[in-house]
Amino acid sequence: MDTFQTIISRRSIRHFKPGKISETEIEKLLTAAMQAPSARNTQSWQFVVITDKAIMIKIPQFHPYAEMLHEASVAIAVCGDQSLEQNVGYIIQNCSAATQNILLTAHDLGLGAVWLGIYPREPRMAGMKDLLQLPEYIVPVSLVALGHPDEKLETVVRFMPDRVHYDKW
Ligand SMILES: Cc1cc2nc3c(=O)[nH]c(=O)nc-3n(C[C@H](O)[C@H](O)[C@H](O)COP(=O)(O)O)c2cc1C
Repeated sequence: MDTFQTIISRRSIRHFKPGKISETEIEKLLTAAMQAPSARNTQSWQFVVITDKAIMIKIPQFHPYAEMLHEASVAIAVCGDQSLEQNVGYIIQNCSAATQNILLTAHDLGLGAVWLGIYPREPRMAGMKDLLQLPEYIVPVSLVALGHPDEKLETVVRFMPDRVHYDKW
């Protein structure tokens, strides 16, 4: 797929078929994540790859929109590292860019994925910190559920000319 087609046709996939995601695919997803731009090139991210289903299915206990984790093969928690970047605003932007790279690469590989918001919801952040035993300086920002898609969603082009302003508002 060319880049624009990948971007335009990506959708959030929340139903998955059983099936493994290979180590090669996981490494490709993480390589894409770490290729994201970051403020001052701090690369202030850490990733927790969750393959243990027993851990994964505990997440819907504290995250109200995470039921698809019962069907997912793998989940990747994208976390900010405050020892590498103190400014939480930049951590969120850096980790969000990394998250989007994971989603686009998953789609390009024929996998399905959905972004689950963690930051800034305190109960979700506390739940992730506790479940994954994250050190105090690590901020859980997002979680990506991944698997082999069991649904096909239509491409929706969302371009809105009235949201575009040239030179002045
Ligand atoms: C910051 C953020 C948080 C999100 N959180 C959730 C979530 O908790 N659960 C979920 O099912 N989808 C979540 N989504 C996915 C959005 O619902 C989805 O991207 C949006 O409805 C547009 O649909 P599309 O991704 O298919 O284009 C989140 C997306 C973003 C960017």
